[in-house]
Amino acid sequence: MNNQLDLSQQEAIVVTFGNFKGGTGKTTNSTMLAYALAKKGYRVLLCDQDPQANATTLFLKTKAAREDDYITSRKH
Ligand SMILES: Nc1ncnc2c1ncn2[C@@H]1O[C@H](COP(=O)(O)OP(=O)(O)OP(=O)(O)O)[C@@H](O)[C@H]1O
Ligand SMILES: [Mg+2]
Repeated sequence: MNNQLDLSQQEAIVVTFGNFKGGTGKTTNSTMLAYALAKKGYRVLLCDQDPQANATTLFLKTKAAREDDYITSRKH
């Protein structure tokens, strides 16, 4: 099986994690897949469409820890 994505392809591949049930790993799997694909050199856009903004918070905290940035985020 070919497990490589075609990087020359212009069209984006959309992967959606969704489940009506809470706490089933949607955030964990979407953030880790985005991270793993980015590490492999793919251009990745992670869209956090959850008002809890847990994926956004996770990446902001990671960025702050790595780059010694001071980042604030306000949840409305
Ligand atoms: N593959 C896994 N193995 C073990 N624990 C996991 C795994 N994936 C997620 N978890 C744990 O399960 C819990 C819920 O995960 P997560 O927050 O990703 O779920 P969620 O579906 O996004 O939840 P919510 O509906 O609240 O947004 C977390 O404590 C997370 O660490
Ligand atoms: Mg979540």
